[in-house]
Amino acid sequence: MTTDPFALAEASAAALRGQTGAESFDAAVVLGSGWLAAADALGTTVAEISLADLGGFAQPSVKGHAPSVRYIRMGKLHILAYLGRIHLYEGHDPNAVTHGVRTAVAAGCRTIVLTNAAGGINPAFGVGQPVLVSDHINLTGRSPLTGPLPPQVPSRFTDLTEVYSGRLRAMARELDPALPEGVYAGLPGPHFETPAEIRMLRTAGADLVGMSTVMEAIAARHLGAEVLGISLVTNPAAGLSQEPIDHKDVLAAAREPAARVGSLLAELLPRG
Ligand code: HPA
Repeated sequence: MTTDPFALAEASAAALRGQTGAESFDAAVVLGSGWLAAADALGTTVAEISLADLGGFAQPSVKGHAPSVRYIRMGKLHILAYLGRIHLYEGHDPNAVTHGVRTAVAAGCRTIVLTNAAGGINPAFGVGQPVLVSDHINLTGRSPLTGPLPPQVPSRFTDLTEVYSGRLRAMARELDPALPEGVYAGLPGPHFETPAEIRMLRTAGADLVGMSTVMEAIAARHLGAEVLGISLVTNPAAGLSQEPIDHKDVLAAAREPAARVGSLLAELLPRG
């Protein structure tokens, strides 16, 4: 079996085409912790495929992350919705973490929507608040663009001036003018942060903190796809409330607002 992550993504994309009968896909949505309710709002599910049947996928091990991808019809659009993702903290390398995004791009997707659950650093963001990611601070110390890259893929020296599409954010705000924007700090986890770390992140300009998204966003931009990032604030970041942070609360807080954001995406994506 090949170890070239791009060839692996091409093979998974071919398997997706074979199993769905779809020639090509338009957009992919990666659902973060607690975001499952968004998938039902996206459109009509045509098929749900186990990632194990596509090759190249590590299995998600975290509660709230299902190991499958849905093929959804949204009007004329063919949408892929990954019902779960895998994280660096599960012991996977950046190539494994970004395999779903690379597969989606290889299958034709020009738009990648990355959703996540995040701690709110900006005190203006209450629990349940969806926030458009305007930029990120990658504090994982990792990149999906290290190591051997085959000659046919774009240069690894990817421009990250506008990781999260200003165009797509503006379209989202046209549909919901109350949607705020914020900077997402991506940490490796899996532990939550200390209050001192949160104070540091706030000083550094972060509004949100989480353990996903940044690898996938970099991989998508490397391949030229347009990225929309949406965080759901599931808890105040450490030190901003007296409550301890619990993964179960993270999942529960996301459910209802996730469904609303799913409906927003169902309006947004057909506008291109
Ligand atoms: N920190 C990091 N990741 C998270 C948090 C948090 O407070 N909440 C949800 N994901």
